[in-house]
Amino acid sequence: MTISNLQLNSKEEYLSHYQQSVEHPEDFWAGVAEQFVWKKKWDKVLDYDWENARFEWFKGAQLNITENCLDRHLKNRAEQAAIVWEPNDPNAKNRILSYKELHQEVCRFSNVLRDQGIKKGDRICLYMPMIPELAIAQLASARVGAVHSIVFAGFSATAIASRIEDSKCKMLITVNEMYRGAKTINLKSICDEALKAAPSVEKVIVYEHTDAETNIEAGRDLLWKELVNDVSDHAEAESMDAEDLLFILYTSGSTGKPKGMVHHCGGYMIGATYTFLNVFQYKEGDIYWCTADIGWITGHSYIIYGPLAAGATTLMFEGVPTYPDAGRFWEIVEKYKVNQFYTAPTAIRALQKCSLSLVESKDLSSLKTLGTVGEPINEEAWQWYKKYVGHNQCPIVDTWWQTETGGIMISSLAGITDEKATYATLPLPGVQLAIMDQDGHEIKSQEAEGRLAIKFPWPHMARTIYGNHDRYKQVYFSAFEKMYFSGDGALRDKKGFYRITGRVDDVVIVSGHNLGTAPIEDAIDEHENVVETAIVGFPHEIKGNALHAFVILHDDVVASERLVQEIKELVSSTIGPIAKPDKIQFVSGLPKTRSGKIMRRILRKIASNDLSNLGDTSTLLNPEVVEDLINSKV
Ligand code: PRX
Repeated sequence: MTISNLQLNSKEEYLSHYQQSVEHPEDFWAGVAEQFVWKKKWDKVLDYDWENARFEWFKGAQLNITENCLDRHLKNRAEQAAIVWEPNDPNAKNRILSYKELHQEVCRFSNVLRDQGIKKGDRICLYMPMIPELAIAQLASARVGAVHSIVFAGFSATAIASRIEDSKCKMLITVNEMYRGAKTINLKSICDEALKAAPSVEKVIVYEHTDAETNIEAGRDLLWKELVNDVSDHAEAESMDAEDLLFILYTSGSTGKPKGMVHHCGGYMIGATYTFLNVFQYKEGDIYWCTADIGWITGHSYIIYGPLAAGATTLMFEGVPTYPDAGRFWEIVEKYKVNQFYTAPTAIRALQKCSLSLVESKDLSSLKTLGTVGEPINEEAWQWYKKYVGHNQCPIVDTWWQTETGGIMISSLAGITDEKATYATLPLPGVQLAIMDQDGHEIKSQEAEGRLAIKFPWPHMARTIYGNHDRYKQVYFSAFEKMYFSGDGALRDKKGFYRITGRVDDVVIVSGHNLGTAPIEDAIDEHENVVETAIVGFPHEIKGNALHAFVILHDDVVASERLVQEIKELVSSTIGPIAKPDKIQFVSGLPKTRSGKIMRRILRKIASNDLSNLGDTSTLLNPEVVEDLINSKV
């Protein structure tokens, strides 16, 4: 495959491919699949059954995703950088792994895994920081046919234990210690604690990333650097059916324990690669950087599998955006002349709050595409990103997707299709969307607002929740007949562009009006003194529900009654008087999960004066903020 074989080059081409993907989805995806390396071609492109939520793509085909990500590039790209790694400490040495070197490292570690008894189908938990060894362990797991379950290295021992237990992982791979900004965190001791409650793990492999001493439990713990010494740098890639498991990734649900979303080898590979190439319009020789952590789906699909299968150079950053200062992202863009930059609105807003000189002092002229993902991006952040990072020269791709969808579903294609601030815009080829009303009927009019569903299967969709197919059926396929329900609200404008309005559990019905909280938050964020807003509903005697806004002000602004009135007026004039929050509370921070999502459950409890049981706040990035929220309650 050359990069351009899968890329759409014009709006017309997008439209015609989209049309074909709807009229003949199987032919369309088979055409995409032809560009990959298969050990054996498929018997059937698609088999599906909405009733039982069973979806199979390219059944009977045999492949190994690492042959697509590594081996096939050895002919033309052996010396090209596959992974460029920037360490946490800007003065420490970076690492650049060519495709040839990455292939060798992955083969060596594959041999280690096999030596330790890992076989096809075994589950391996990876709890590691953003270092090349994480990518190597992940790819080696895929090469030997094991199933990786990567747990973000910020989760607690309890969270790791429950994830290991849920999928009965046989092995755990970790490091002695990791860096996060100015701090070091002993991951091994967190693992030791977790393993007390996770007896399925037989072996632990520890990569010594720092000089800190490693606690070794004899008979269980092994050192990475010792194991890779005596192994060959050739390793056969296991033959996998397209429908064999590739990985499990846990995502939190609105209720209950985390869901182990399962992705399979064939369809996932095709989807991640096709969407990567088309959305970002990566070109030969470009340097692409996604700032996500590999512990999340964005890192799986758009740091590792998509870019590597496409033969791209992917940058991996160990640190945080604010260390040693809030100019670090821009420093890295300048240092490596990054061409495509993909981050989250939460990061943009945080950096927007800092001095402009941090961004203005860096040379960002290499940038060609800016991407955003993970939550609705507010207008102010979008405009700031466009102006100060992209110098009004770079298209912004606002990419809507989910852990469950495996790859980007709605987005503009950089420089090819039109963008619109705060809109994800159009579905990618192969994605058939529907907007559903309260009664479960599709709203067919061009302009529409409701619940976002998907009415035809796509290759990279998660196939099940590990060990709980009933829950998968119930969560995603019971809301609407013969459709996947995303859990998000969306509106469609007269051009057919989609805007995600937020989770539908964040929709509040006020006096019988359905109000998405995201557009109201957006409106408030437009105020020059406001950094970030979160809105939740609380019970109201007359209206049913009313809105409570938690608002973070810029550091130098003093809260006042006048500001409260200005904000209400702003909402009133942007959306309508109905959307005016009843309460506006100025706060120093919002409770966020480690992936940057606002934990609205806590805000709802505070807004409703229901402080008796705030639930588990231990997974918060900033648990200390909760007390401040309670104390500053209006
Ligand atoms: O609500 C949507 C929001 O993030 C949810 C998926 O979260 P997760 O599975 O953690 O995956 C995040 C990375 C793909 C969605 O249901 N979301 C994601 N992207 C966007 C978004 N909301 C608005 N705009 C987006 N671009």
